[in-house]
Amino acid sequence: MNSMENTTLLFNDEMEKIIDAMDLSQEAPVEEPQRQYWFMKKARQLIKEQSEKLGRPLTANITTFGCQMNARDSEKLVGILERIGYVEVPDENADFVIYNTCTVRENANLRVYGRLGYLHSLKKKNPHMMIGLCGCMMQEPQVVEKLKKSYSFVNLIFGTHNIYKFAELVVSSLLSDRMIIDIWKDTDKIVEDLPVERKYPFKSGVNIMFGCNNFCSYCIVPYVRGRERSRNPKDIVREIERLVKDGVVEVMLLGQNVNSYGKNLDEPMTFAQLLTEIEKIEGLKRIRFMTSHPKDLSDELIEVMKNSKKICKHLHLPLQSGSSDILQKMNRRYDKEKYLNLVEKIRTAIPDISLTTDIIVGFPGETEEDFLETVDVVKKVRYDSAFTFIYSKRTGTPAAVMENQVSEDVVKDRFNRLLETVQTIGREMSARDTGKVMEVLVEEQNSQDKHLMTGRLSNNLLVHFEGDTSLIGQLCQVRLDECRGFYYMGTKVG
Ligand code: SAH
Ligand code: SF4
Ligand code: F3S
Repeated sequence: MNSMENTTLLFNDEMEKIIDAMDLSQEAPVEEPQRQYWFMKKARQLIKEQSEKLGRPLTANITTFGCQMNARDSEKLVGILERIGYVEVPDENADFVIYNTCTVRENANLRVYGRLGYLHSLKKKNPHMMIGLCGCMMQEPQVVEKLKKSYSFVNLIFGTHNIYKFAELVVSSLLSDRMIIDIWKDTDKIVEDLPVERKYPFKSGVNIMFGCNNFCSYCIVPYVRGRERSRNPKDIVREIERLVKDGVVEVMLLGQNVNSYGKNLDEPMTFAQLLTEIEKIEGLKRIRFMTSHPKDLSDELIEVMKNSKKICKHLHLPLQSGSSDILQKMNRRYDKEKYLNLVEKIRTAIPDISLTTDIIVGFPGETEEDFLETVDVVKKVRYDSAFTFIYSKRTGTPAAVMENQVSEDVVKDRFNRLLETVQTIGREMSARDTGKVMEVLVEEQNSQDKHLMTGRLSNNLLVHFEGDTSLIGQLCQVRLDECRGFYYMGTKVG
């Protein structure tokens, strides 16, 4: 065994020792994370008793909706579930089913209600099944009211600010037949040193900040994720060092607006400075981040990206709209000109960078002229790809009560036209490296053809090439033979 593996084991071991040393005959400690270690031990005891009664291990399943923050939160929940004795299973035929919800657009929200009906039918067959709901949707009071009234079979409801308390909440649920609801409006607390179970052995998301202060007028995220708070840089670096020792070569730094990282720290630092620190971590090969708000993207960041050997050549730079008028109503704090100038500056410094974006169609008051401004920006910037969304009215946001909401058929027509433009350009941009040899991080075996492996380029595009599973997690040189829309077919050359 090499020394790298040793260090991780030591960490797991350390946590295990602390959990083991907890005295259940005493009250749970007040301070965190010790309190949660106590509840992990307690949960373990309760789950062991249940599983002995049933004569089989207890199973759990988490479904994650929404963005990478939620995906990372789910890894933390799975980390705790595994520590306390649940076995993760791939579907909802489980003893404990959790939905980690999203509410950024209404359809994300509706999907959860739809699936709850199905869960109810499963629970009728397995009465001791526990159902837990968490994530952004639970931070909306009207959602919790509706669940209390019409979905009383749900056992546990918690929000985005107290997931670190998950072990404690599981214990409460196991000991009670009533619906447990624990929602916090906001918190400035960040609890470190809790277990996490990564989905991929070789890459990982890393939260660098939580919450959002921007209040774009259409967006519900600041209401459900609370105010912006940055993690201490030392904790971030320590976490990444640990991940690297555990086999991780690529990290994705996560925050709603990473460019404003560090502003509220006791010793303020910039995102560019944080990246410089992370770059120094030996063994780490690739650094990605999202999301970058155009209003806060500094020259310092462009400089750091330009000189970095590890930061990937990809920037996700949400545009939302190309119309300065609409951008102002959206409270984005940049206009069309400023955005285009920024793109030019980035492209001049880093000519081979891939740019991707998010665009909303049909924001209240959007005219045909406004929409054409968006199409104009798309044509000028030439994104590698763009997520296009139909505006969704979110109760409680300023845009929800704005006049001139755009009719559905007009929005659909604009959406289709935008999609067409985005895809045509995206295909052309994606193909620009055909024939080159580039580095990929091999991620998985192709699900349709077992002879093919799938790797990711620095610019985030996927490449399929012949190989075997021993390559997973490794960086390989691959020749990009042919671009098929938004991915390449390639040949491994080294
Ligand atoms: N913090 C990120 C975005 C997080 S939400 C940023 O500022 O870029 C992801 C995307 O969802 C947004 O970029 C936006 O395009 C889209 N979105 C947010 N609220 C929406 C709404 N009410 N209707 C439609 N799309 C929305
Ligand atoms: Fe929402 Fe704007 Fe914050 Fe992004 S920056 S999460 S779009 S409010
Ligand atoms: Fe959705 Fe919450 Fe992310 S609302 S997009 S899961 S921050």
